Amino acid sequence: MTVIVTSTGAACGADVSGFDIADFSDREFAVIKQALLDYLVIRVRGQKFDDAVHRAFTQRFGKLEYSPTTKFSGKPWLPDFPEMSQITNKMIDGKPMGTLGDREAFWHTDMSYIEEPPLGSLLHAFEVPPKGGDTEFLNMYRALEEMPAALRTTIEPLQIKHESIHSSDGSLRNGKKEPESGDVREMEGVNHCIIRTHPETGRDALFLGRRNNAYVVGMALSESEALLDKLWAYVAGRRDLTWRQVWEVDDLIMWDNRCTMHRRDAFDGDRYIRMMHRTVVKGDRPFYGAAI
Ligand code: SIN
Repeated sequence: MTVIVTSTGAACGADVSGFDIADFSDREFAVIKQALLDYLVIRVRGQKFDDAVHRAFTQRFGKLEYSPTTKFSGKPWLPDFPEMSQITNKMIDGKPMGTLGDREAFWHTDMSYIEEPPLGSLLHAFEVPPKGGDTEFLNMYRALEEMPAALRTTIEPLQIKHESIHSSDGSLRNGKKEPESGDVREMEGVNHCIIRTHPETGRDALFLGRRNNAYVVGMALSESEALLDKLWAYVAGRRDLTWRQVWEVDDLIMWDNRCTMHRRDAFDGDRYIRMMHRTVVKGDRPFYGAAI
């Protein structure tokens, strides 16, 4: 078999086909892995497979990371696959069967609030709405490379604090407490450089994490807010750097979390179910320049 890599023609994304996701060789894997490094997001389309195959495919890229829900509450969504999260609006007896519901998810990189944010994530679609719920990806290498020079010079030595007490929908995580002051500088979180060097490609990428409760380390709060607003306005204005995944049942998408951000469109959750399973691959500590 020969793995075929077909670019989307957009700023990121490629289809990888011509191989069996349940049974492939090391040589085939090398092509798939290189496609991820070259195109930042890869899609496997038209193959039917289960969670065990999804997990085994993920493990070719590295060790499994636990999803935020499990990491913070200890309760997995899928007991047979505790590292997997269920991303869905499905409810049973009034209880959510997974995370993210049907609302829009704003631009973010996954789990940037841990010391070693994931290398990548893999999302597998079981049920999709006929309209809405698309996932968009943004090429953060190019966001940095094409940034106004003065802005790049400003951010070069800086770090962002990525707070860890809230989940992406703004709710407080299990067992976490807001500081009484409500000041982002006092919230739990980790600091990461704003520009990170990709450990495998050696290319530099912009690394923002999430907008909510971010803080530029060492700055006055107002100065930090102003700089973050400027950076986020810049990326949000660069739709030319994006690629949109319009989901089909059985699609598996993997994104390189070290050089992309993603967001998701809302959809009509009263009429439609969207059901996805996601695995996450452990990453390493972001660095800029020479590895530490
Ligand atoms: C995610 O943000 O990890 C999920 C994106 C999606 O539901 O499409």
